Amino acid sequence: MKNLAIFASGTGTNFVAIAKACESGVIQARVAVMVCDKPGAAVIGRAKEMGIETFVFNPREYAGKAAYETEIVQLLDARKIDLVCLAGYMRIVGETLLRAYEGKIINIHPSLLPAFKGAHAVEDAVAYGVKVYGITIHWVNADLDGGRIIAQRAFPYEGSDPAEVHRIGQKIEHELYVETIKKLLCER
Ligand code: GAR
Repeated sequence: MKNLAIFASGTGTNFVAIAKACESGVIQARVAVMVCDKPGAAVIGRAKEMGIETFVFNPREYAGKAAYETEIVQLLDARKIDLVCLAGYMRIVGETLLRAYEGKIINIHPSLLPAFKGAHAVEDAVAYGVKVYGITIHWVNADLDGGRIIAQRAFPYEGSDPAEVHRIGQKIEHELYVETIKKLLCER
């Protein structure tokens, strides 16, 4: 059985989709730990309800990125993590975590990369007048939203409501993330 770690900062709908897929056997793996950098985020309650171990930290309580990432690496090593899935983890991965886990960290992003990197991808795309939106899953490297692309799915949208783009996109995210994790684990 493979071990996943999911990193999230917010609501956690992608976390729940992945965890449920593991629970039902659609993905043949277990979510060994959910890592969250925002004490108080909704995803923490969701993980607890599902009986999944959580590691919640406040970056401001550490001397710097290297300090909390050192602790995270120890935690991942101890649980023999095969794949780290960033699911709305709104923090750039630093060199400590990359040195230990590069090639095993993937991220989901709500745009067709390399267009619209960053924390406001959907809002930026709507402001630009985009007509075809999409979701990208990519390997994580030192560049923001910059690693090699693993999977993408596009959808047309002619309106101008970012909330609606988020709604349509999230449904696609949940399916695409589960399919992609499943595929990557089979290849390992
Ligand atoms: C997702 O839409 C994900 O694509 C986005 O955060 C959301 C988290 O939603 N990630 C990024 O913007 C990364 N740059 P969730 O907490 O409901 O899974």
